[in-house]
Amino acid sequence: MVNSNPVPPPTPDAGEAAIRAVGLVKRFGPVVAVDGMTFDLAPGRIYGLLGPNGSGKTTLIRLLTGMTRATEGTAHVLGVRMPDRANLARIGYMTQGDGVYPALTAGENAQFFGAAYGVEDAAQVDEALRLVELADRAKTIAGTLSGGQRRRLSLACALVHKPPVLFLDEPTVGVDPLLRVQFWGHFRQLADAGTTIVVSSHVMDEADRCDELLFVRAGKVIARGSGGQLRAEAGTDDLEAAFLRFSGETAVAA
Ligand SMILES: Nc1ncnc2c1ncn2[C@@H]1O[C@H](COP(=O)(O)OP(=O)(O)O)[C@@H](O)[C@H]1O
Ligand SMILES: [Mg+2]
Repeated sequence: MVNSNPVPPPTPDAGEAAIRAVGLVKRFGPVVAVDGMTFDLAPGRIYGLLGPNGSGKTTLIRLLTGMTRATEGTAHVLGVRMPDRANLARIGYMTQGDGVYPALTAGENAQFFGAAYGVEDAAQVDEALRLVELADRAKTIAGTLSGGQRRRLSLACALVHKPPVLFLDEPTVGVDPLLRVQFWGHFRQLADAGTTIVVSSHVMDEADRCDELLFVRAGKVIARGSGGQLRAEAGTDDLEAAFLRFSGETAVAA
C-alpha cells in the first residue's frame, strides 16, 4: 500500500515525548477548564484521560490538537508547538459525538477528511473504511447509518491520513459491547505500530485497556500511572474508589 501522506511519519528519538504539556491553562471567563497541566506522553502508548464530565478532558484535547489556544503554558505534539496547521497532518482527532457529515456518503466523508490532510490515494481511503469494517457501506449516506456505524466512520475519518498521534474523545460512548471490543482491538493494533493514542472517558470500565491513566479532576491531573499502579497507590482494587481517594488528597493539599 502506497502511503501518500505528505508528511513523513516522524520518528521521535528514544525517550522523546510524543506529546508534551507544560503549565497548560485554559480559562473561559471565570471558568478554569484546564488548570495547570504538565506532562510528557511517550510514543506508541495508549493513554487514558479519565475524569467526570466537566473535568476538562475535551478542553485539554482541544489544546493539544491546537483547536483552541492556551491561556497560559505550551503544548507540543511531536516536537512542534501547537497550534500548528501543518502539524495537523500528523494528528488524528475523533471528536466527542459524531464529527461526520450526514449528507455525504461514508466514502465521501472519509475522502473529505483525508483530502483535508493531503491524502489523494483512493486506496488509502478504502483502507480506512476496511479497517472499521465499513467498506461495504462506502456508498451509504452517513445520516442513514446506525449509531455504531457512524462511530466507526468517525474513527475511519480520524485515522484516514495515518497520523502518528491520535486523540479520541470518548470514542466508545453509546457504542455496543462488541463494537467496543473491536475499537480497542484497533487502538491496540495502532499503538503496537507506533501510534500514540490519547483516549478520554468519563467511565472507568475501559481503563485497564490503556497502558497508562491520567486521572483528571477540576482541570488538574491528580494522579498518573497504570491501572495496577493507581490501585496499589490508593490501596483499593476499585478504580473509582482510587479516583475518589486521589481527589480527596488533592482537596486536602489544596
Ligand atoms: N467553549 C467554552 N466556553 C465556556 N466554557 C467552556 C467551554 N468549553 C468548556 N467549558 C467549560 O470548561 C469545563 C471543562 O469542560 P470540558 O473540557 O468539556 O470537560 P469534559 O470534557 O471533561 O467533560 C466545564 O466547566 C465547561 O463548562
Ligand atoms: Mg468532553
